[in-house]
Amino acid sequence: MSYKVKFVDPGRLYRMIKEELDAAYFEVMSKGDLIDRGQLRQFEENLAAFVGTKYAVGLNSGYDALHVSMRAARIGPGDAVIVPAHTFLATCSAVVNVGAKPVLVDVGKDFNIACDKVEEVLESAICNPQSEIKAIIPVHLSGYMADMPRIMKIAERYNLVVIEDACQSLGSGIDGKGAGSWGLTGCWSFYPFKILGGYGDGGAITTNDPDVALFARRMRYNGEDRDTGEYHGHGFTCLLDNLQAAFLDVKLRYLPEWIKRRKAIAVRYRQALSDLPDLLLPHYDRAGFDHVYQNYTVRSTQGDEFSEYLKANGVEVLTQFRKPYYRHEALNLDDRGFPETEAISREVCSLPMNVELTSEEVDYVISVVRSFYRK
Ligand SMILES: Cc1ncc(COP(=O)(O)O)c(C=O)c1O
Repeated sequence: MSYKVKFVDPGRLYRMIKEELDAAYFEVMSKGDLIDRGQLRQFEENLAAFVGTKYAVGLNSGYDALHVSMRAARIGPGDAVIVPAHTFLATCSAVVNVGAKPVLVDVGKDFNIACDKVEEVLESAICNPQSEIKAIIPVHLSGYMADMPRIMKIAERYNLVVIEDACQSLGSGIDGKGAGSWGLTGCWSFYPFKILGGYGDGGAITTNDPDVALFARRMRYNGEDRDTGEYHGHGFTCLLDNLQAAFLDVKLRYLPEWIKRRKAIAVRYRQALSDLPDLLLPHYDRAGFDHVYQNYTVRSTQGDEFSEYLKANGVEVLTQFRKPYYRHEALNLDDRGFPETEAISREVCSLPMNVELTSEEVDYVISVVRSFYRK
């Protein structure tokens, strides 16, 4: 189906900055700089500065960033890790794939892990001698951060490693401290539709810990130290491609401007839709908490009826995730009952939100939403 307003339009975005992307492509191709060259290091330096950490290490994907972080924190069989019940499955898979047990916790109205519920789980774990909760992975969903000041306090009290899944929140922060700079690592995805998207898969870790950065640099290269040739363990092939790094570095320069544009679109949606009583908009107005609107996810109690109406009228929307991941039988996960996640799953609908949207397209989305509620 061809939509009047697409959820994202990577071709249009390419045309907006074509000259610079083409120049980056020609430089990489003509020099033959394909693997682990200057463009990667340059991007890593700029990413670390943007996030506010000492190091950034480019990897193949957000999943790899989470997986390598688990290994850097020495999480493995016998350990348990707290993850939100509402997130992209990769958060949980990184835990399972190192042999550890994910402990799912419900989220709050802001779609992020509910700290009260985290504390409940940790309190009851204390009474269970077999429980080995070692870490927590707060996910900063849709461009809005989990309550990191509180999570850091909880982690200190219970001696937990904190790995931030910041894949959806590049550029966000709390009181000026960037997403991905709070925990042992911040994990990033440069999947094409992310706020900073490549032209294929990509990811990174940010960290202030030199040992973690070194570990990730070696592990992404099958455990090898590239200077000495020594293998320091069984690693993976999960290096960010040099060409992707060159593209991402071009786009990173635009990010502050693009975030402003996203915020302006969010303001427009808010002005035009906040009088609709059925529609819950993603504005939390919490002092110090920034929102960069990777996604503009609304909640409508009319669920599929609402999202299907938008699609039928030419507006491409996303409804991630109608079926919570813990309900997929093959994953074999404990469903301890997560009422907020269940409600969110029925109601979510992400409206088009990207820098390539024109103001006329935003107005069109608004008119379709309003016409649904008039009918
Ligand atoms: C919250 C979250 N975690 C992890 C990932 C995994 O990233 P990737 O697709 O780059 O592996 C994504 C992105 O898709 C994500 O949105």
